[in-house]
Amino acid sequence: MEVIILKEPHQIANKCADIFEQAIIEKNNAVLGLATGSTPMLLYKELVNRYERGRLSFRNVITFNLDEYVGLSPQHSQSYSYFMQKHLFEHIDISSRNTHLPDGIAENPIYESEKYEAKIRGCGIDLQLLGLGSNGHIGFNEPTSSLGSQTRIKTLTPQTVKDNSRFFTEGEFQPTLAITMGIGTITSAKRIVLLAIGKKKACAIKQAIEGPLSAWCPASALQMHPRTTFIIDEEAASLLKMKEYYRWVYEQQQQLTQRLGMP
Ligand code: F6R
Repeated sequence: MEVIILKEPHQIANKCADIFEQAIIEKNNAVLGLATGSTPMLLYKELVNRYERGRLSFRNVITFNLDEYVGLSPQHSQSYSYFMQKHLFEHIDISSRNTHLPDGIAENPIYESEKYEAKIRGCGIDLQLLGLGSNGHIGFNEPTSSLGSQTRIKTLTPQTVKDNSRFFTEGEFQPTLAITMGIGTITSAKRIVLLAIGKKKACAIKQAIEGPLSAWCPASALQMHPRTTFIIDEEAASLLKMKEYYRWVYEQQQQLTQRLGMP
């Protein structure tokens, strides 16, 4: 695991955008796993910025989102499909045929989950982006989710419903079910980048990186993944015991890449 601690949210977005850019340039039809929520918003802004400056094209890129609320149509302003259109897809040259999210209003959400899993397995994700729930969830894999789980319907915890209530207006229907990639689906990606910002994430970051491997903290499953990078701010890193070591490793690595003239 690589842990990169940066000061400002825009530095986190830029660093992550560099990793995305590298993945897109490296492979003509890169398959990206995407996330929603507050954390990736600056990253998407930076990717749009790089596209507008002619530095990046998404023409052949394929995307799969982590999750979608059960009961919300793609047109619903709180659906993750709508979020992706608004924050990324409608601003770049990606083909709508290449963007995938679970269908929140599928007649049979169980079948929809199986179909989504099969599509992901058929393509294989090159780079998966993750945010982190304050309870350690990744996607909507809440604590005690099987570490080998596949795409399926999950019931959100009251904590997650509360955390996400800020996106809904009072009295508006807020779903408590979601279709989410499983932890096994997520960890089948070749490379994973998890972003976390703020004090609210410090406890989950501590458990994910330095805690025991446990279904109690779904993000701890990333300890088993061969190529995961955590890019986090000082507040999210505040409870880490080894943070000076992570900083030192990153500095050494920066020096090495500079010396070798690597991007
Ligand atoms: C979003 C997702 C969630 C969020 C997490 C953090 O697609 O799957 O796991 O990444 O809840 O959300 P924010 O970034 O809003 O704190």
